[in-house]
Amino acid sequence: MAVAMATEVSDSELMARAIALAERGRRSAPPNPWVGCVLTVDGTIVGEGFHERPGEAHAEVAALRAAGDRARGATAYTTLEPCAHTHRTGPCADALIEAGVVRVVTAVEDPDPQVRGRGFDALREAGVDVVVGVGDAEATRSLAPYLHHRRTGRAFCLAKVAMTIDGRIAAADGTSQWITADGTRQNAHELRADAQAIVVGSGTVIADEPALSVRDVEPAPREAPLRVVLDARGRVPARGPLFDQAIAPTLVLTSDHAQPGAVDAWRSAGAKVEVVPTATSGTGLDLAAVLALLGAHEVLEAMFEGGARVHGALIAADLVDHLVTYVAPSLLGTDGLPAFDWAGPSTLAHAPRLELDRVERIGTDLRIDYRRPVEVG
Ligand SMILES: NC(=O)c1ccc[n+]([C@@H]2O[C@H](COP(=O)([O-])OP(=O)(O)OC[C@H]3O[C@@H](n4cnc5c(N)ncnc54)[C@H](OP(=O)(O)O)[C@@H]3O)[C@@H](O)[C@H]2O)c1
Repeated sequence: MAVAMATEVSDSELMARAIALAERGRRSAPPNPWVGCVLTVDGTIVGEGFHERPGEAHAEVAALRAAGDRARGATAYTTLEPCAHTHRTGPCADALIEAGVVRVVTAVEDPDPQVRGRGFDALREAGVDVVVGVGDAEATRSLAPYLHHRRTGRAFCLAKVAMTIDGRIAAADGTSQWITADGTRQNAHELRADAQAIVVGSGTVIADEPALSVRDVEPAPREAPLRVVLDARGRVPARGPLFDQAIAPTLVLTSDHAQPGAVDAWRSAGAKVEVVPTATSGTGLDLAAVLALLGAHEVLEAMFEGGARVHGALIAADLVDHLVTYVAPSLLGTDGLPAFDWAGPSTLAHAPRLELDRVERIGTDLRIDYRRPVEVG
């Protein structure tokens, strides 16, 4: 059904609508990108769609199906460059051309080596007017994990920390459950639902025996995120909720130096085990290699949930792309465990910096998001 719009709807407003549509696929489209498409004729939307899951119609094809014959002469607003390679529903650039679309407005070029400008080339060669960059900042932000994955081959790294006012994540006796309030922890479940993997260090597994499940989120992710344990020495016992494969699959990343027997025990408990190089610092695993391995497993976004040493090592290696801190109104003092356990720079001028992204109050806690400044486009 055609949706009547005000006569002067701008390109950026229609792109904002396409980005909102794309977001509906965030938890089901990966490892494909979540993409939205709006088709208009004379300011009236004649069709729209989003990519819901791998193997199903891409956003452009979904929108073309919704529009039918009304797509002739239309403008297409797509959040990502239309693909030019063959998949189950054929190249989207060809589908747009065949349907008679005359103008394509796109937010960002697709860095996937199979596309990267080829979709635009195909459209231009067919005489379609192509505009690139409308809504690029919003689309880049929405698609950040996908863009990062296709550009670097590594999973996008989101680190989440629940801490006190004085930046502590556990008391002197190791207790950390719970620093933040119920509503805040539910907010963290929404973050888990957006990731394809949840990663923790061996110290956290031994201290907390977490389940790392995703609970009470809407919509639920198409697949429960992979639970990943970083354990170079083989200290984590193969038991507890993390090894309950009914909750979600488990991957233990270890080194060649793991205690004999540990690998067999993890595998017998149903976990997958892979070996990763150790860090040049001498402590634990090479975290860039961890992110590359997860990227090779089609994890677009990996959510790190501690603890102090793993998060410290991520910061030291400059690997954090998005940091979410939940700050509770309590203090634990210098005997408490710092959120980032690392030596830090010798002088302020060398302090790593992230960009403040947003601040939200959740009941009595605060959620503060920081991001690595990203290249738009
Ligand atoms: N409030 C929160 O948000 C929060 C979240 C999580 C945890 N916690 C608390 O944090 C504490 C655990 O933190 P933690 O610092 O002791 O342990 P951790 O960071 O969870 O784990 C550290 C261990 O991970 C392994 N590891 C693998 N690769 C590593 C690398 N590149 N860098 C550093 N470690 C690596 C190392 O053991 P191997 O050498 O044996 O591999 C290391 O000893 C617990 O008290 C827990 O309750 C709090």
